Amino acid sequence: MSMNGKWFRAILGHVPTAVTVVTGLDGARHPVGFSCGSFFSVSLDPQLVGFCVAITSTSWPRFTRDGFCVNVLTEDQHLLGRRFAASGGEKFAGVAWRPGASGRPQLAEALAWIDCATTDIHRAGDHMIVVGSVTQLALNPSLPKPLVFHCGGYRNVADPPSAQPPRVLTGTFRAD
Ligand SMILES: Cc1cc2nc3c(=O)[nH]c(=O)nc-3n(C[C@H](O)[C@H](O)[C@H](O)COP(=O)(O)O)c2cc1C
Repeated sequence: MSMNGKWFRAILGHVPTAVTVVTGLDGARHPVGFSCGSFFSVSLDPQLVGFCVAITSTSWPRFTRDGFCVNVLTEDQHLLGRRFAASGGEKFAGVAWRPGASGRPQLAEALAWIDCATTDIHRAGDHMIVVGSVTQLALNPSLPKPLVFHCGGYRNVADPPSAQPPRVLTGTFRAD
């Protein structure tokens, strides 16, 4: 990597990100997924979210293009973060998950699950920007703390959430 590339990574690594696992189904409806720190919210009305995926990903080309599920990891799930960041292999072997309404995998004990129908895929440099319309949102009612990636390592958030979420966020919400 060039000096400029190292500088880019070193500086951008100071920006903390959530750690998510983006899951989906392949053409045979087998689960697929990869760790993803670039998850972002896009629009409230309509409800859109997105993420960036490298063109070198071997998982992403296996996803059917109809949708994906973003699993937000908790501080107890750093091993899942590592597992889904390794290319290839049987990533789901021994991993507890259940199918959401779409059939896409929701990892057990995740902090939140955001299931989406893919609306746009844009090429941007060596990544694709994938945008999806939210079809199902659910929050783990026990409110575990999120896992954070910062300066090249997994970190915990020191302070617990200061308030309980509004009641409407504690169950499963399906967008119209
Ligand atoms: C904390 C963390 C965040 C990551 N974020 C992304 C990301 O936003 N986009 C991406 O394409 N890869 C990201 N990766 C790397 C992928 O997880 C990894 O390249 C991928 O899982 C390789 O497996 P695959 O070939 O099966 O896709 C991240 C890795 C880690 C550890």
